[in-house]
Amino acid sequence: MNVIQGSQRRIFSGIKPTGEPHLGNYIGAIRRWVDLQHEYESFYCLVDLHAMTLPWDPEQLSEETLNMGAMLIACGIDPDRSVLFRQSQVGQHAELAWILTCIARMGELRRMVQFKEKSKGDTESVRAGLFTYPVLQAADVLLYLAHVVPVGEDQRQHVELMRDLGGRFNKSFGRTFVIPEPLISSDGARIMALDDPTQKMSKSETRPNASISLAEAPESIAKKVRSAVTDSGREVTAGEDKPALTNLLTIFSAVEGTPVSELEATYRSGGYAEFKQALADALVQHLRPIKKRYEDLVGDRAELERLLDAGARRACEVAESTMVDVRSRVGLGHRP
Ligand code: TYM
Repeated sequence: MNVIQGSQRRIFSGIKPTGEPHLGNYIGAIRRWVDLQHEYESFYCLVDLHAMTLPWDPEQLSEETLNMGAMLIACGIDPDRSVLFRQSQVGQHAELAWILTCIARMGELRRMVQFKEKSKGDTESVRAGLFTYPVLQAADVLLYLAHVVPVGEDQRQHVELMRDLGGRFNKSFGRTFVIPEPLISSDGARIMALDDPTQKMSKSETRPNASISLAEAPESIAKKVRSAVTDSGREVTAGEDKPALTNLLTIFSAVEGTPVSELEATYRSGGYAEFKQALADALVQHLRPIKKRYEDLVGDRAELERLLDAGARRACEVAESTMVDVRSRVGLGHRP
């Protein structure tokens, strides 16, 4: 029986190593992971198998996976404290995903908003991986018997699915999995594009002024903030009728560690230009050490490989202990 020993609770979260991580990933997820690693036994996964749901270039995939590992470490994930690893190096993810696929229902996968968005209604020629990847995501978390899944708002539905699949498995085969809870913060869980506050900031978005990457040059940060859309009116305030300013204030608040209400009090009447200048300065200052650490780390490919290999070995121990239990419960028995 695979029961978590001791009192420390576990978290699991993942990030797709496609494109450059941006402020949305950082504010909605990565900066929380950095804090949480002191409270929880933490597993952070570079989900390279998920990156294959859209057409991919093999060389680029392996390159971007290492780059993303370097960026997470640059942001403060400590590979000695947390288990940081590549998904594809732990074969149990794909194995459990298959077993869960066999208890998942077409209807529940069809309801996934991300599938609807990414397939753009073309459900015939869209790749099957795009349809089934929330099951792989469920396997990612259930494998580690994680209690908590810190994510941005866009992943809420996927966490619901993993809860459903874990519960269904437990009901059919006996209590095996911990049913995980989503951890979605009340602020910054949905950072919007700078050029269109009705759309979330996204790695797959190619419009040049939509997002700011974590390794962005200071001049480029300042330029993008200057060109960010604002709302009608003159006052710098947040509110339902001010989606663009609310977004900029949320970003400012996250990097400064200052509540939105205080920022409103400081910048309310100074005009948009002054506010944007202050925001750009704050972003440049916050991201400067991250960019510097990233540049120091990313060149040492051998060291990154070593760190991620070590993480995968630790992940594999936990994953295999769960799979021994799962295999026996579903009638697959032991490995030779
Ligand atoms: P991914 O790579 O799209 O995003 C990584 C994390 O960043 C959050 N995020 C955002 N938060 C706020 N505002 C935004 N604009 C924004 N954009 C992204 C996401 O919510 C996420 O927390 N399928 C997942 C990766 C994954 C995973 C897992 C997550 C695979 N297995 C298991 C948790 C548990 C994904 O594509 O995330």
